[in-house]
Amino acid sequence: MKITSKQLRQKWLSFYESKGHVNVGAVSLIGDGTTGVMFNVAGMQPLMPYLLGKPHPLGRRLCNVQGCVRTVDIDSVGDASHFTFFEMMGNWSLGDYFKKEKTAWTFELLTKEFGLDKDKLCSTVFEGNDAAPRDEETASLLRSLGILPEHIFYLPKSDNWWELEGTVGTPCGPDNEWFYPIDPKKKDPVFPDDYVEIGNDVYMQYRKTETGYVPLENKNVDTGFGLDRMLLFLNGLHDGYKTDLFAGVIAALEQLTGRRYDEDGEARKAMRIVADHTRTTVMLIGDVNGILPSNTGAGYILRRLMRRAIRYCRKLGVEPASTMCAVAAAFIDEVYGEAYPLLVGKKDYILDEIKKEAERFETMLEKGMAEFEKCIAGIERKNAFMAGKDPAYVPENTIGGKQAFRLYDTYGFPLELTEEMAAERGYGVDKEGFDAAFREHQEKSRGDLHAGEAKGGLESHSVQAVRYHTATHLLNAALKAVLSPDVNQKGSNITDERMRFDFNFSRAMTPEEVKAVEDLVNQKIAEDIPVVYKEMSLEEARAEHFVGVFDSKYGDVVKTYSIGDFSKEMCGGPHASRTGELGHFRIVKEQSSSAGVRRIKAVLE
Ligand code: ALA
Repeated sequence: MKITSKQLRQKWLSFYESKGHVNVGAVSLIGDGTTGVMFNVAGMQPLMPYLLGKPHPLGRRLCNVQGCVRTVDIDSVGDASHFTFFEMMGNWSLGDYFKKEKTAWTFELLTKEFGLDKDKLCSTVFEGNDAAPRDEETASLLRSLGILPEHIFYLPKSDNWWELEGTVGTPCGPDNEWFYPIDPKKKDPVFPDDYVEIGNDVYMQYRKTETGYVPLENKNVDTGFGLDRMLLFLNGLHDGYKTDLFAGVIAALEQLTGRRYDEDGEARKAMRIVADHTRTTVMLIGDVNGILPSNTGAGYILRRLMRRAIRYCRKLGVEPASTMCAVAAAFIDEVYGEAYPLLVGKKDYILDEIKKEAERFETMLEKGMAEFEKCIAGIERKNAFMAGKDPAYVPENTIGGKQAFRLYDTYGFPLELTEEMAAERGYGVDKEGFDAAFREHQEKSRGDLHAGEAKGGLESHSVQAVRYHTATHLLNAALKAVLSPDVNQKGSNITDERMRFDFNFSRAMTPEEVKAVEDLVNQKIAEDIPVVYKEMSLEEARAEHFVGVFDSKYGDVVKTYSIGDFSKEMCGGPHASRTGELGHFRIVKEQSSSAGVRRIKAVLE
């Protein structure tokens, strides 16, 4: 079957619309911060509240095609099937139909609409564990539809359970995955080696908690089929860059470089990386909540993608800014403009930002590469010298953490860029040393921050996150002042863009109370009060009425921060040094979080 990306999107939506689903359209690729996931990684993510039970205004049967960004496999990009951006075709039952209808519809779509041979389909179901039973029901439905019994496999949680990694409070459950032979003509294909996964139906009936899983009131279905993957497979292709999504871009790259994708393995890998990373760049900058390359959070991930693409342009021997702009324009004009009209409106802006980042990095890259070569030459010299003195000497093959940090700090080399360049020369990089150098630098040079307990990692403790942290202390104190001294913090969550703060209070705040809290925090910011750090014994902290979690032992030394007489908290920091650094504080939302607990979302602007 030959099918284009446009036809496939359309076919998916019309099939599910014919089964009573409403197309809810796609939302932003940038996570809203509620789950701690930076990008939208699955079609279900924006539907989280509805999968947990909130009624959806458009009903109980929904479908869409949703863009997703996953960067965990970034190192694999360059092969035939890994992408950092892809579209997930989805449909959902919010407490409506369940396994019977879902298995039948997926079967109908695959065999009737797409013409797949039912005797070649394979399907896997959950084998069961302490948290949830073996999925006999799905297996028996599959058999009754005509899937061969020997093509149904029971697999453990690692294969047939779907949840958002690293989150709590999110919906999840066992899934049913669908497979087809990579080469349908092959005789007696062996599962799973000769098969490709084409999609999955998740039976979302649980909520993930800190300690396990609790059943949801609703039994939901969450289906996800990758459009890029399906396209490949329905067209009998084996290379994801041969579909209509990439064909024009690869042709453009062939023209610009004068190299042949099919014949030149090295160029092929580089073209794939440039194409994939530029596509994700277009989508992230052109998003409704578009971001720009920066040194923290999602912006830093974007920067890493862009800088990797820039480097691979250079490997291909072409000028990065104009090449990436040509690739980006091809994606917008020829492939995504219709499905994502916003990209058309933002085209000039996107190209301009690509150009700026490429130019910023270009000059540093030249110098940084020279610096990198110096590091390698230094190690080689030392190795040669030592080998001459001691025949048993084991040559060094690691770039030091301090050197890698210098490349990062002075030349803007993301760590993995240094690692990738090092690997090409047979060298490794001392990552722990890099982290240590990073922390040391952070503690030394940030005059506006207290050293505190930086846990390391590039994304923690950005200047903005630190300001938000200080804002939580002001908010905590303001709530006590306006509502009641019994109000206590129940939790908080901070990103570079916003803060969330949970506290015990039995009713919704009135608009006047919200305004009073906001005004009080802004007043304290305007007073530009110094934030004072002090270590003291637990007993002293208690006597001086510091608030916080008194879980330390008798005699322990605790860390405290006070903001004048207004706020006194035990806390590990770090914090802004004065409240004046915080800017303007605004409460975006006040809502219920759970019984007796309210949640405030606020921003510093
Ligand atoms: N949420 C499921 C997935 O991402 C459908 O594969």
